[in-house]
Amino acid sequence: MKTAITELFGIQHPMIQGGMHYVGFAELAAAVSNAGGLGIITGLTQKTPELLAKEIARCRDMTDKPFGVNLTFLPSFTAPPYPEYIAAIREGGVKAVETAGRSPEQYMPALKAAGIKVIHKCTSVRHSLKAEKIGCDAVSVDGFECGGHPGEDDIPNMILLPRAADELKIPFVASGGMADARSLVAALSMGAAGMNMGTRFIATREAPVHPNVKKALVEASELDTVLVMRALRNTERVLKNKSVDHLLEIEREKGAALKIADIHEQVAGVYPKVMLDGEMDAGAWSCGMVVGLIYDIPTVKELIDRIMAEAEHIIRRRLTGFLDGVVTPKAAKVA
Ligand SMILES: Cc1cc2nc3c(=O)[nH]c(=O)nc-3n(C[C@H](O)[C@H](O)[C@H](O)COP(=O)(O)O)c2cc1C
Repeated sequence: MKTAITELFGIQHPMIQGGMHYVGFAELAAAVSNAGGLGIITGLTQKTPELLAKEIARCRDMTDKPFGVNLTFLPSFTAPPYPEYIAAIREGGVKAVETAGRSPEQYMPALKAAGIKVIHKCTSVRHSLKAEKIGCDAVSVDGFECGGHPGEDDIPNMILLPRAADELKIPFVASGGMADARSLVAALSMGAAGMNMGTRFIATREAPVHPNVKKALVEASELDTVLVMRALRNTERVLKNKSVDHLLEIEREKGAALKIADIHEQVAGVYPKVMLDGEMDAGAWSCGMVVGLIYDIPTVKELIDRIMAEAEHIIRRRLTGFLDGVVTPKAAKVA
């Protein structure tokens, strides 16, 4: 399949693995890239630019295909040394960067000078248009369903994607709620040139996280995520657990007066405990509603090949079947 996204990044399939804290290590990024998608190393999971340089080199040892790095611009007072992280990306020969969080505007000249393609993750049409204006090559349009930070507008992808298609000139991928071939074909129908998946890629054999995390994803349903930190305007969609129940109690108690310090125990330093040690109740960790569509733990290649085969089946058989007057049963499973 060829789309504006496969051409932009020089990849075989229009599928990106979004940056994920303590999940997006070289093993997962390389597996996604080797399977024909665009794998992404999560930049800030590496505590220093030197460590990121090593992680890029490790990924390069595992794949000769293009891969990217995620740079999340946090609303913090003690900002990480972004110029040094960008230098590590440039010197590592990485040609794709997924930016997220705050606008990457001040770093665009450095990224562009290094010939890096920038895809910015946005949760609204207005932020997507800003990304286009400042020279981003593409946008990852992240709907309300998404794992992680859906923003504060609460617009699901059924509306957000066609709205983005109506406004944007640069290509975009659909992000949030994407799990399978049905997601991909729907995203393409609504004007996207591919899809970005987070949660789905955690439940793969190569994702270098504790087996408890993958088990939790297979067992959870679409009813098992919840939004936290709304009062701080830093809304995050997370998987429900004991620690999140406690966090929600504190949020109810404090109301609009909630401060980040009130929930420090439930949100700070949680990721290594959950992802590496498998302590599933250690705190709040991002998870998308799409968890309800995760039934298995395939290899990344099995997942991507299955998506592409079933997408072809949906397009060639189910959809054209309607035009030809052949009513096929519900969406495709390729035997
Ligand atoms: C465990 C987890 C950690 C994440 N960490 C980050 C991150 O550090 N930076 C970022 O830009 N997005 C992060 N995301 C968001 C993903 O890149 C992606 O946009 C999102 O998962 C898409 O929604 P989905 O989970 O429904 O596929 C994270 C998502 C998950 C599930």
